[in-house]
Amino acid sequence: MKRIVILISGRGSNMEAIVQACAAEGWPAQVVGVVSNRPEAAGLAFAQSHGIATAVVDHKTFASRDEFDAALAAAIDGLAPDLLVLAGFMRILGAAFVQRYEGRMLNIHPSLLPAFPGLHTHRRAIEAGCAEAGCTVHYVTAELDHGPMVAQAAVPILPGDDEHSLAARVLVEEHRLYPQAVRAVVEGRA
Ligand code: GAR
Repeated sequence: MKRIVILISGRGSNMEAIVQACAAEGWPAQVVGVVSNRPEAAGLAFAQSHGIATAVVDHKTFASRDEFDAALAAAIDGLAPDLLVLAGFMRILGAAFVQRYEGRMLNIHPSLLPAFPGLHTHRRAIEAGCAEAGCTVHYVTAELDHGPMVAQAAVPILPGDDEHSLAARVLVEEHRLYPQAVRAVVEGRA
């Protein structure tokens, strides 16, 4: 059984989708820990209520990114993961951290990469007049939102969409796509 650690910063709905998928019979992986950089992250309560170890490494309590990254790595390594899954984790990670987990760290980004790396993806897709938006699961590399892609899902941008209605449509796809992509990686099919 492969060990997954999930990093969150907030709501944690993608983390929930992965936890629920892993609970299904025949899954080759289990979520052994959820780590948040925000003590108030709503997703922590879900993880705790499912018997999953949680940890908070609050970025505000560290003087530098390097110190935060080192504390985060220590919390993660204590859980001995085979795969690290970023799910709405909203801190940029330093090069040394990325290198430590390179090849075993995934992220989901709410755009059809390489379009719209960074923030406010749905608003930018609407403003650019795109016909489609979506989400991408990719390996994390040093360049933000640029690692090798594992899977993508697209949705139409409909007349009258604003960034909230579009985000909700994309999120449905995120919850479907991310567990599938995690499983493909764990099984060596990615
Ligand atoms: C998701 O839409 C995810 O794609 C996005 O944050 C949301 C987190 O929701 N991630 C990023 O923007 C990463 N740059 P969740 O906490 O409910 O999973």
